[in-house]
Amino acid sequence: MSDTQELEEKARQIEGAIAVELEALAELMAHPPAQSAPAAMKQRLVAAKRLISKLRKTSNAAQKIVASGRKTQSQRRRDIYFQGLRHRLRKWNRVQVTYDQAIAQTPTPLTVGDTPAHFAQQLEVIDHVYTAIYGLLRADTQDDRAALLGYPDIPLTLSRFSACCHAALRLCLAQQKPRPLRFLDVGCGVGITLLSAARVFDRATGLEFDPGYVATARNLHIAVGSDRVEVTAGDAMDFDVIYFFKPIQSREKMRALEHRIIAQARPGTVLIAPYMDFATDNPHQPCHSIVRYVHVVGLTESQANALGQEAQMIGPAIIPPDQDKDPKAGFLAPLIDALAQRGFALKEDRPQI
Ligand SMILES: C[S@@+](CC[C@H](N)C(=O)[O-])C[C@H]1O[C@@H](n2cnc3c(N)ncnc32)[C@H](O)[C@@H]1O
Repeated sequence: MSDTQELEEKARQIEGAIAVELEALAELMAHPPAQSAPAAMKQRLVAAKRLISKLRKTSNAAQKIVASGRKTQSQRRRDIYFQGLRHRLRKWNRVQVTYDQAIAQTPTPLTVGDTPAHFAQQLEVIDHVYTAIYGLLRADTQDDRAALLGYPDIPLTLSRFSACCHAALRLCLAQQKPRPLRFLDVGCGVGITLLSAARVFDRATGLEFDPGYVATARNLHIAVGSDRVEVTAGDAMDFDVIYFFKPIQSREKMRALEHRIIAQARPGTVLIAPYMDFATDNPHQPCHSIVRYVHVVGLTESQANALGQEAQMIGPAIIPPDQDKDPKAGFLAPLIDALAQRGFALKEDRPQI
């Protein structure tokens, strides 16, 4: 048996042992932060670190061996294995940094509004352009019959919408809701909100009764090739996040819709209702505000407060559901996934603006 072959076998064995430790660590991370078991986590991490330093030595030893003459097919295959191994070892450093951030228990507030002044100015520019493009899309598409019953498609600003979705995502992660996370926009108009929501949640569905808007929304989604988005007619309460921005003009009918949503949504469903009279008109419903415009259904007040605290321990990462996974992550994959479930992404995977 050649030296490198021996080293490969040894390295594979160590990788298997690391995978056992990191899978156990990822499983421990699956508990909500407040219920995590720090001693057991530390034990797994120490064991993994010890094995990784052994693995590093094996990888270095393999790199020092220079093959003479033409490489055989199995030597070339082994080179590819060791390249992948070096990639994992380099990545481990970034996984550790992210892991340390995730277990540091430093709360990141859930905020909607309260943006620093200079950043608010930048958002204002983005919102201005967004609203202009929105206006172009919805121009002259409102159906006459629909115009009698409902508001035209007036957009919520993208910055406010994104902030609400971000808070809702962290509330879903804090509740450990099973994937896919499903978002519903009641009265989605021409469907642009759904494109934003699909960057945050796994599926984004819009209900809209105006046929002109439905047609525009469907064309838009076909044009941008978004296949996790759909516009539909009908009524369904089987969603994790339900958004409604004043679809109906009549306050009486709007209240009836709000009551129906609150009564039928499953406990733990996050509601995004970005207008003032929702909160003031619904104080006695089983629905509690967590942060401005963002509410949770079916929890007692103390449960809702506890959830709000837990969600602050969820990190700020928004990982688009269709983001490609690293095919060479190997033993790191379960821990990277567990970090993502806690709202933490490795630095290279975060958007750079
Ligand atoms: C204020 S716009 C909301 C636009 C979009 N959701 C946003 O936030 O940018 C309200 C939308 O609700 C739609 N709508 C009104 N009544 C509805 C109903 N009963 N069912 C479904 N959609 C309705 C209207 O056609 C309109 O497009």
